[in-house]
Amino acid sequence: MGHEHPSWAHGRRGGAGGDDAPGDGAGAGRGVDRDVGGGGGDFRPGAPGVGDDYFPLYGNGGYDVKHYLLKVSYDPATDRLVGVATISARATQNLSSFNLDFVGLTVRSIKVNGRSAGWSRTEHELTVTPRHGLRKGRKFTTVVRYDGVPITQQLVLGPGFTIEAGFIHTDDGAIIAGQPEVAASWFPVNDHPIDKASYTFVVTAPADLEVVANGRLLARKRHGGKRTWLWNAPEPMASYLATVNFGQFDTRRYRTDDGLWMYDALDPDLFSEPSDPEDPASATFGEIADGSFARQGEILDFLERWFGRYPFSTGGGIVDDYDNLQFALETQTRPIYSKFFFTSPPSGDSVVVHELAHQWFGDSVALAEWKHIWLNEGFAQYAEWMWAEEEGLGTAQEQFDARYNGIPATDPFWSVVIGDPGPELLFDIAVYFRGAMAVHALRQQVGDRDFFRILHAWTTRRAGGNGTIPQFIRLAERISGQQLDDLFDVWLFTGSKPVLEGAAAAQATAAARSGSALEQARARSACAAERYCPGRSPLAVRRAVSATRLARVSGRLASTIRARAARRTDREKPSQVSRAPGWAANAAARSSGTTRSSTASSFVQDPSRLASSTRASPASVIRPSARSRSTRSLFDRAQPLPRLRGENRSMVRSSSSPADLPSIHPKHSASRTDSS
Ligand code: TRP
Ligand code: ZN
Repeated sequence: MGHEHPSWAHGRRGGAGGDDAPGDGAGAGRGVDRDVGGGGGDFRPGAPGVGDDYFPLYGNGGYDVKHYLLKVSYDPATDRLVGVATISARATQNLSSFNLDFVGLTVRSIKVNGRSAGWSRTEHELTVTPRHGLRKGRKFTTVVRYDGVPITQQLVLGPGFTIEAGFIHTDDGAIIAGQPEVAASWFPVNDHPIDKASYTFVVTAPADLEVVANGRLLARKRHGGKRTWLWNAPEPMASYLATVNFGQFDTRRYRTDDGLWMYDALDPDLFSEPSDPEDPASATFGEIADGSFARQGEILDFLERWFGRYPFSTGGGIVDDYDNLQFALETQTRPIYSKFFFTSPPSGDSVVVHELAHQWFGDSVALAEWKHIWLNEGFAQYAEWMWAEEEGLGTAQEQFDARYNGIPATDPFWSVVIGDPGPELLFDIAVYFRGAMAVHALRQQVGDRDFFRILHAWTTRRAGGNGTIPQFIRLAERISGQQLDDLFDVWLFTGSKPVLEGAAAAQATAAARSGSALEQARARSACAAERYCPGRSPLAVRRAVSATRLARVSGRLASTIRARAARRTDREKPSQVSRAPGWAANAAARSSGTTRSSTASSFVQDPSRLASSTRASPASVIRPSARSRSTRSLFDRAQPLPRLRGENRSMVRSSSSPADLPSIHPKHSASRTDSS
């Protein structure tokens, strides 16, 4: 209790226009008949928060949002955003008023069920008082008109370490991404993952810019110097995962082998920037990102083996060229990545694995409260370890051992109670690495068969919903038939280094003793590549380490990979994946990576795993509430999307393999196809 939401700082152009509309800030109940529904005397204001232990004001009580229709226009030249948010919700109590979370921008008008409503504001809360009370169980529609310059959040992640998040102004547009709470800076929202909704984005921007959001692009239309884009995200989504990106992007639309609708966007500038600042001949960020993105279908197949079917109807990724973007985020269906992850193919692939794993752990199954963050980061990090094992870069056991043996009990790393880390340590590096170790400890305890059953059951039964750590523990106990309180107490709820017992202890000791030079080198590079070394500042989000350091690591990794590739020549296939000079050996290693880890094999035969061959083509459905008159008038006559240049039938028909994808490159950009 008592934790403040992160400080909201003003963006570079002086922040939210201080030009509040008359009545804004003082409008509650203004001119409103207080007819609160006739009869029931129990019409009360909705709570200003959903009751999150860490962030009491996040989200609101008394209603449940079904859909957000966000009509937004944004011009980077002025940084101004003009929005109309149509929020379709259902009352869960008799409401005399209700709150939305909204920070910065100026409210111009609010209507509830078509009638003007009153409102008042604090820094974070927008209280809406409808003309009539809203009866429990009834649907209601709120339309908020607003505008201004969206502010950028400065998230304090450690002493002297602050990152930009939320509405991030770039040189040629904007990125919207961050957590735990960023949506309130660009639309009025019930801003907590417990209230998921579907989204429709109708976004207008200067015609020379691309607009990339979650879900599927259904139409775009040019009008004068502007262009309006219609993006639809039909699956329930936590508000912090909603994203719209403005800027110059090379885009690629295609289907994976499984028929999944994909849309990738890379800033063309990334293709002229060497990933190693000391080596002008090194691969560019763009080339490396392009190569990792081309493996998304393969990565999704890999993750589907452990987690069950990919939970959404679309996929893809976004990389903007913005030096101050210091993180990656699992924005639903279309993660956003700092370019600094793409300093080597293994690093790039690994972060793509991480963000795609979040699509199950974090997005489809979202946190019920932020204190359950282990359910997101522990599993996304563990997915990276499983992937590394698949790639021959060290087993999950070795990753566990390296940290268990490498981080002394006195290191503050072990003092973080990752099952309830507190808001300040929400994204501490321990949440990631001790988190993944906890996942591994569970796997050792229950065995592979039950372990993967647990993961599969979790992601399947809670798909589209939320979860808590106690619920996960109960499920693990039910499936394994074991009493797991002790295990989870030690790994999640104790602020000291767990003492290993039995086989696990023997294993760790053996690993420590056999510390050959080779293993030590590998542990060091894993440590650097994964941004944690004992003694280094524990900042999880600093996954975007300096390009220089990673470039050095990537040199070491490259020789390891080359050696491995040489051993696998029997399975070598040519690869067309765009690779920089020097990464050819790695490309060969990738395309030959058909071996499966031994631990995987039992699960591969699991019949509950969905066949990957057929995936229903997602229907281009806009939810009924989204088919408002205004949307229709704009888009009913819109042309179907022009086929993107370089997009041939085989791509659209999903018979392509990752290696067949045209690479994104400014010279043969697939974007800007509708300029004619
Ligand atoms: N969840 C993100 C990831 O693991 C990283 C992250 C942690 C983050 N805290 C953040 C991103 C704050 C943006 C803002 O990929
Ligand atoms: Zn993560």
